[in-house]
Amino acid sequence: MIKVGILTSGGDCQGLNGAMYGLVKGLTETNKDKVEIYGILDGYTGLINGDYKKMKPEEFENILNLGGSILGNSRQPFKKINEPDEKGRNKVEAMISNYKKMELDCLVVLGGNGSHKTANLLSEKGLNIVTLPKTIDNDINGTDMTFGFQSAIDIATRTLDELHTTAKSHGRIMIAEIMGNKAGWLTLYSGIAGKADVILIPEIPYNIEKISQYIKDKLKNGRKHIILAVAEGIISQEETKLSKKELKQKRAKDGYISAGYRLEAELSEKIDGEVRVVVPGHIQRGGNPCAFDRVLTSRIGVKGAELILNKQYGRMVAVQSNNITSVPLSTAVEKPKRVDPNDEIIRQVRMLGICLGD
Ligand code: F6P
Repeated sequence: MIKVGILTSGGDCQGLNGAMYGLVKGLTETNKDKVEIYGILDGYTGLINGDYKKMKPEEFENILNLGGSILGNSRQPFKKINEPDEKGRNKVEAMISNYKKMELDCLVVLGGNGSHKTANLLSEKGLNIVTLPKTIDNDINGTDMTFGFQSAIDIATRTLDELHTTAKSHGRIMIAEIMGNKAGWLTLYSGIAGKADVILIPEIPYNIEKISQYIKDKLKNGRKHIILAVAEGIISQEETKLSKKELKQKRAKDGYISAGYRLEAELSEKIDGEVRVVVPGHIQRGGNPCAFDRVLTSRIGVKGAELILNKQYGRMVAVQSNNITSVPLSTAVEKPKRVDPNDEIIRQVRMLGICLGD
């Protein structure tokens, strides 16, 4: 008997259920009576608390197109992994102990960057771990793509599409603040798809003078409205000169207002025109996965099953050049994947006449 535990960790995204569907199908289609599945509830919190249930393969049958996670999610910050939990327990010891109590042969973790650090730690402590890369941020090292990313691009693009019509009617400047944590992938892709005039990403610090001039020139040349796709993690060129501590103090002084509103304040001082901000927020992670993510998660899940059946542990399923492969967990946790300002796509964005703010 092969006993497999599954948990979905960190912020949710579209495709978590689809990946579990692919995984369970891949494990059980040809080994029906040889595999037992344990659903661990609410991410690592469930593993710490021993909160899990034995599940039938049929329970994963009709969830490919369903958003969220049927197991529930929680954030267990890696930074606090060595702090005792509210009951005074050592979290790592509790997780190892519950894994052993459940007599698991493998734990499958569906997670992003932080969850991968914990998964890698558990793997180093001797647990058999396989991970599946999820996040709308697309910022996990070692994989070209994470699931959830394409669905979030579709939603952020629809937001930009909708802003175009109202911005045009009113002749307004509209800013959409897009998620992605400290990475600009989601803003870059949706910005291109949603035909933003300005795309600002954390990897390219912005200069407010350049953006204002670009907008003024466009308006002078007959353009009636302007759309800015702005990543939540943007930083100005001025701010890059500050130390981490100074930047924190500056943000506190500004009242911790988010990127879109900070930019609105800066732009309003420079430009004579109405500026509005829209923050689609968690809507970008919500709803059902797009068709692309349904295909991707089916394949990623099946690959995870293959790794388990071949006893290839300590690995993350990865997408590389359109192939589904795997990389060691140590690669996944090297450092978050960022947009390279020298990448071909950045050159192409400039050639499209889009302002990148630098
Ligand atoms: O990592 C996914 C993500 O949606 C980021 O884009 C965003 O910064 C963050 O999670 C939001 O976190 P929370 O769900 O805890 O508000």
